[in-house]
Amino acid sequence: MAKKIVVASGKGGVGKTTLTVGIAKALTALGNRVLIIDCDRLRSVDLLVGVTENLVYDFGDVIFGNCEPEKAVYENKGIGVISCPVSYEGIDSEKMKALSEHYDCDYNFILFDAPAGIGRGLELASAAADNGIVVSTPDLVCVRSACTAAKEMEKMGVGESRLIINRVYKKDITKGRLLNVDKVIDSTMVQLIGVVPEDEKVRLGSMGGEIYKKRYDSYAAFTNIAKRICGQYIALSFLK
Ligand SMILES: Nc1ncnc2c1ncn2[C@@H]1O[C@H](COP(=O)(O)OP(=O)(O)OP(=O)(O)O)[C@@H](O)[C@H]1O
Ligand SMILES: [Mg+2]
Repeated sequence: MAKKIVVASGKGGVGKTTLTVGIAKALTALGNRVLIIDCDRLRSVDLLVGVTENLVYDFGDVIFGNCEPEKAVYENKGIGVISCPVSYEGIDSEKMKALSEHYDCDYNFILFDAPAGIGRGLELASAAADNGIVVSTPDLVCVRSACTAAKEMEKMGVGESRLIINRVYKKDITKGRLLNVDKVIDSTMVQLIGVVPEDEKVRLGSMGGEIYKKRYDSYAAFTNIAKRICGQYIALSFLK
């Protein structure tokens, strides 16, 4: 059975989709089969994975019987993507659970990329998830919304969530311009699973290039998060 993880944040634009795809790539490099279900009606996973050109069906089509479950999966470099319909109309938590069951045996991991906010999109993205990842940048506004998102996910029945602190500039933190890593963990009360540095190559990669490469500053962070998700013990260190 696939391990199912929802990636959420509360506040928008903090890197959920980028991290979902980066982690999927790192998990794939470790030999796993990974499916990403885009639960954001604004859709962006297909762009980062590079499957946009072929895209016809979304998970709404599977739920409403317009296509076979495998027809809605678009694959590139070992990562499967199922896109989000433009409307959630007629879709509920039970249907999301049934949807993910179609893919349970074919993948080691199913990642649900949640939209910003703590409303219906998060509820649907969380419906089938065993565990959560909450993403925060090291600033107060984002930390508060990550904390709220983690609490909402717990109420929705998601098991333990872990925190990723994204877009960390070591210099800003050491100079006291941003919250330090310990403060973010204390404020969210969620256990840390990784710290991803601000990485220009990731930002540029999200415009059609690669976001996970050995020579990138964030490579070790993505790899270590993937290993921890797989249950390996990798000591946490600053920006990794
Ligand atoms: N570690 C990073 N270093 C540099 N840029 C990053 C990093 N993580 C994310 N970004 C950039 O931040 C922007 C927002 O990222 P992304 O779309 O993944 O956020 P999101 O949380 O999924 O947004 P939304 O809430 O709209 O779904 C993108 O331009 C992305 O390239
Ligand atoms: Mg997103």
